[in-house]
Order: sequence, then structure tokens, then C-alpha cells
Amino acid sequence: MARIELDNLAHSYQTGAAQREYALHPFSHTWEDGQTYALLGPSGCGKTTLLNIMSGLVRPSEGTVRFNGLDVTALPTARRNIAQVFQFPVIYRTMTVFENLAFPLRCRGLAEQDIRTRVNEVADLLNLGSQLHRSALHLTADAKQLISLGRGLVRNDVAAILFDEPLTVIDPQLKFELRRKLKEANQRYCLTMIYVTHDQAEAMTLANKVMVMNHGRVVQVGTPQELFEQPQDSFVGYFIGSPAMNMLECRLSEDGIRIGNQQLRFTGHKQVAASEKTRFAFGVRPEYVTLSASANDGGLPVRLIDVKSVGAFRIVALDLDGQRLRAKIAADVPIPSGGVFVRFAEGRRLLYADDRLVGCD
Ligand SMILES: Nc1ncnc2c1ncn2[C@@H]1O[C@H](COP(=O)(O)OP(=O)(O)O)[C@@H](O)[C@H]1O
Ligand SMILES: [Mg+2]
Repeated sequence: MARIELDNLAHSYQTGAAQREYALHPFSHTWEDGQTYALLGPSGCGKTTLLNIMSGLVRPSEGTVRFNGLDVTALPTARRNIAQVFQFPVIYRTMTVFENLAFPLRCRGLAEQDIRTRVNEVADLLNLGSQLHRSALHLTADAKQLISLGRGLVRNDVAAILFDEPLTVIDPQLKFELRRKLKEANQRYCLTMIYVTHDQAEAMTLANKVMVMNHGRVVQVGTPQELFEQPQDSFVGYFIGSPAMNMLECRLSEDGIRIGNQQLRFTGHKQVAASEKTRFAFGVRPEYVTLSASANDGGLPVRLIDVKSVGAFRIVALDLDGQRLRAKIAADVPIPSGGVFVRFAEGRRLLYADDRLVGCD
């Protein structure tokens, strides 16, 4: 497996135009060997473009791609030693399941005995063992995609395996199972895996590290915990977590911040360089909002709008001086009736200036 370095990489699909629109804005990043990464972002943000640049299907308009220090930017896909699994299954319908899985190994001239061992191992992992001698022709979409995944996993000499939203066509129940299998495969074979998805839950459960993209830009790379606790960009706060992070317009004041007419003590923003035009926002996850019936200890008065039960939690919608706020409250914690005050957990209060994190208290 390989360490993949992207150096000042950028891509525009428009060639020769005076005003180039970037599908991928310039950035640098290193994918470390043996890690499982998720590449997460909404549709159209540039995920497939980035994946195809790494596999060699797209030649970047700027920058360099290196595998283990070797510049591969100009090399075709075939010479990069990458396995790629696409959104929709790519299989040979006239072959059996076994032959499909064996194909990438036969192409590389492996001995028949080694092919059999490896195919059986991967088939075992994906529960395809009993179907190896069936023709691929009449399989369900799920089963076909399983074979595609298997073909991605079967070679052990690849630099990396790139998955482009491979579970889109898979039934939700099986999806859960497959995520677990992919994680298992990664631990067993020590793969460098880059897994594209627009599903935050999928990204957070599968990967050690998640790269979040928005509008062709990389906005943050971090562990699932870092993305949850310290979103560097308000987009990450909004895109990750359910419900999304609360973001309240605010102003800086002498000893903290002001949200509407409410004053909040906050000391984490001393070094902020701001201009007249800077937009400040106070961010706090619904998990870190608590409710009480008294204003003690700096609680801010809110109006209760709505309470929704979601399994072991309730999502409480509140109004804080004209701005909407949500709290995630465990089912066994009472919600005050009458006057309600909110408090935000220490160390979980975040301040954003023009959508970038500038303080934490
Ligand atoms: N072959 C192409 N030619 C021109 N524009 C493209 C092409 N492929 C993708 N794009 C554009 O580049 C942007 C990123 O697309 P893509 O990488 O497919 O995003 P994602 O995989 O995150 O949905 C989009 O605006 C898309 O319309
Ligand atoms: Mg895509």
C-alpha cells in the first residue's frame, strides 16, 4: 500500500478559458499508508473529481500526485496500481462469481493456487462463499455490487483502494453489515482506503479520518471526534451531527459575546482580528445545551417552541432572542415547563468569524 501525496493540486474542467472555474480549488494533503479515510461532502462538491485524479482517470490541471514519493501525475490508470470501486457495479455478466473475483489476479499473472486462496478469503469476508460457482448474470443489484467490492479487495499489491459511493445501490440493512465488513477488511489487510460518501453517518462510522469538502474546497481533515467537537468551518458543524450544530449570529462585547440582547461570558476569542464586515457566529452542538428553570450561573432566557421525541432523546426547539436553537435532551431528563433557561457546556462553546473557527471556551 502507498502513501499518497497531493501537492498544490487543483482541477478545472474548462480548458483554455480566461476565467477558470475550479471543480477542485488548490490544496495539498497526504493520505497516510494503511489508514481508512472517508471523503465526505454534498453532491457536486468535487469528490469524484479528486478520486479520479488519484486513480489517473482525470489529469489535474495543476499540481502533483505522488505515490510513495514517485510522481505519477502523468501516468495512466493501468500503471498506478489502484483498485477503484464505482457507484454502480462493474462486473462481467458472462462469468461466474469466482471468475469475476479472480479476474484482477489473473490479469496480473498470479499462480492458480494463490488466486484460489485469495478469492476464497475475500468471498468468505463478503459472504459470497456459497455463490462462487453461480453465473453473475442473474444476480441482484446488491450481489453485483458485493462482487465489485470483492474485486476491489482481492488484490493485495495495490497502492490504495478508492471507493466512490459504492453502497448507494445497496439495501439499508445490508449497508450496515457491509460497512462492518469493509472495516474488518481494512484491519485484516492494512489497506489504504479512501471511501467517498455524502452520508455523514457512513463517513463517521467507517473512517479513522474524514476529509470534508464543500464547493470544491477541502474545509477540514480530522478524526470523527475532531469534526464533531471542533468543526473548523461552520459548514462542518452544519453537515456533521444530527441535528446540526446551532449557529447563532452574535457580536463581540467587553467580557464576552452578545446574542441579541443577551450577554454570554466567553473568553476564548481574545486574539480575533476583526473588521466592521466580519460576521461572527456562536456555535454549540445540541448535545451540549442544557435546560433549567432558573437563571442561576449565567443561564439565558429562552422560549420553548417544540419538543420532538427521537428514540432515547428529545430534540427541543427554542427561541433565543429571535434566533432558533436546538437542544438534544436525554429522555429521562425533565424539561422545565414555564420559564426556561439555557446553558452551554464549558469547553464546547465555539466562536466563528466569517465561518472559520476562531475561539473555544
Ligand atoms: N466531466 C466533467 N466535465 C465538466 N464538469 C464536470 C465533469 N465532471 C464533473 N464536473 C463538475 O465538477 C464539479 C464536481 O463534480 P464531482 O467531482 O462529480 O462531484 P461529486 O462527486 O462530489 O458529486 C461539479 O460542478 C460537476 O458538475
Ligand atoms: Mg461523485
